[in-house]
Amino acid sequence: MKKIVVVGSLNMDHISKVDHIVREGETIIASDFSRSPGGKGANQAYAVGRLGGDIVMLGAVGDDEDGASLLSSLKSVGVDTSGVMICPDAPTGVAQISVDKAGNNTIVVVPGANMEVDTSYIDAHRSVIDASDIVIMQLEIPIDTVVYTARLAKTMGKYVILDPAPAIPDLPEEIYRYVDLLKPNETELCILAGMSLDDGDYTEKISVIRKKGASNLLVSLGSEGVLVSLHGREDRLIPGRKVTAVDTTAAGDCFVAGLAVKLAGGCDVVDAVDYAQKVAAISVTRRGAQRSVPNPEEID
Ligand code: ATP
Ligand code: RIB
Repeated sequence: MKKIVVVGSLNMDHISKVDHIVREGETIIASDFSRSPGGKGANQAYAVGRLGGDIVMLGAVGDDEDGASLLSSLKSVGVDTSGVMICPDAPTGVAQISVDKAGNNTIVVVPGANMEVDTSYIDAHRSVIDASDIVIMQLEIPIDTVVYTARLAKTMGKYVILDPAPAIPDLPEEIYRYVDLLKPNETELCILAGMSLDDGDYTEKISVIRKKGASNLLVSLGSEGVLVSLHGREDRLIPGRKVTAVDTTAAGDCFVAGLAVKLAGGCDVVDAVDYAQKVAAISVTRRGAQRSVPNPEEID
């Protein structure tokens, strides 16, 4: 089994259960509140660990209770957290999440220690990246660090997966050259392509991103599934599983983790997507981020 490293964010999620997503100028009363471990990077590392992958997490937390709790969650599923930086001067990242009755969410991230993950930290952990086969990143740490790490990983001959979330319109184009697999959702695809939702179809948006240098894309489309767009092959939609969603938080993270675990085991991308969609579909039937990740035995 190949080794996986996630270079990314760790956040404590503050989750409010609401009737509807709050509108501008509105104050609403939530029916429930909870705190639980999250952060796109940590969720992906946790899910890889829970699914049985060989996984190391690189990132940063504050020297506080939230940081300790996030590290303990990762360790509980076998993630190697020994390289995670504990920052004396920055608090652990926090995400304010509202989940409505249909399971849809809005998320506001206060990055805190995640912004301390700079290129010198990456240099100090080059050996961890070198010892891995698959490098997974998202965009909740400084963009310069993501580009630097992707370049380094590619130079070392690693397989690089980028979940471009949260997407930014001015993502440096050089990064596409270093990424083997890009996993935007529909909104992220539009932002990266600089097009609106109603502006052209998926194929047009994918071709804009390809012109910037991307090769293989998996566009996740929520309950509709995943549009697989691999270099030199015809695009293909693999439908999602039919489930009743209660909370879609971290569906994308579960998908990326399932994908990486199967690729690490030697599967091809299409089989890995199939497995990843099963993992993600189970996660949306449960509340929370890391706590919604299934055990391998639950996945048929
Ligand atoms: P996140 O909510 O974590 O930001 P995302 O926006 O990155 O997720 P999505 O496209 O929403 O990614 O979901 C990723 C995958 O999870 C989908 O391709 C699908 O396989 C699965 N999924 C998400 N929502 C549902 C749903 N309602 N029913 C079944 N499967 C779902
Ligand atoms: O993808 C879900 C995650 O996004 C949440 O756990 C939250 O922390 C934000 O990073």
